Amino acid sequence: MTFLLLSLLALDVPADQAAESYNEVAAPDPGVSAYATCGGCHGAQGQGNPALNAPALAGQDADYTARQLRNYKAGIRGADPEDAYGAQMRGMSSVLVNDTAVVAVSEYIATLERPPAQATEADLSAGQGAYANCVSCHGQTGQGNPVMNGPALAGLDAPYLERQLEHFRAGRRGAHTEDPWGASMVPLAQQLDSETSAQVAAYLASL
Ligand code: HEC
Ligand code: HEC
Repeated sequence: MTFLLLSLLALDVPADQAAESYNEVAAPDPGVSAYATCGGCHGAQGQGNPALNAPALAGQDADYTARQLRNYKAGIRGADPEDAYGAQMRGMSSVLVNDTAVVAVSEYIATLERPPAQATEADLSAGQGAYANCVSCHGQTGQGNPVMNGPALAGLDAPYLERQLEHFRAGRRGAHTEDPWGASMVPLAQQLDSETSAQVAAYLASL
């Protein structure tokens, strides 16, 4: 009994010390700590890693990023059996324990600078022509248009962009009843065949 009591006391002391020294350190940015796991796939600076199919996140509008993370968590995005990469991300979204973490990581991501994407060898003029229909919501240079809820597309890698357009077309993204913004992209993606999608993706990756 005495031994048990002493052990408890012994445990108590380091716990208190730990709490004190934690408080002495300047409070870490909750977004930076929440981003720690994400860097493994999306890159330390959110620059993306096409080899892991993980798109660039850096500089993206925080409201858009938070919406995607909530959608993954709720199974609104990434739940289709044919969306393997979305499913991977859906699993990762559970790392963010609550909406405070979702908002913090999204705001941190928005502060990072997005580097240019990997260039592709495509005819960019055709893609530029097709992009005319996208400007109103995604911006003249693909910088996004938060007023229309249109995310930044410039600097995303071409395979990711093509895959998302295919997901919208095939009803793997934007088909859920609680995804009005995704749904608004569906008819636009359906106007593009796979060749035009590849051209517009190559053009956006070049911006
Ligand atoms: C195991 C690798 C992996 C990790 C770790 C990971 N992701 Fe992802 N993430 C992906 C993949 C793959 C996709 C692309 C899914 C697709 O193609 O639809 C993705 C997509 C996303 C998207 C959608 C981007 C867009 O433009 O719509 C967001 C936002 C995102 N991830 C944020 C995060 C955050 C925040 C974390 C950390 C909490 C994280 N990811 C951790 C692999 C990962
Ligand atoms: C009427 C406004 C509107 C127009 C026009 C529009 N989009 Fe979108 N787009 C959106 C919205 C809103 C979203 C965000 C959907 C969501 O929140 O999931 C989006 C998302 C996307 C995404 C997913 C980005 C990501 O990071 O995963 C791609 C790719 C895309 N649009 C491409 C296009 C292309 C290419 C065109 C032109 C052919 C186009 N869009 C025209 C509103 C629009």
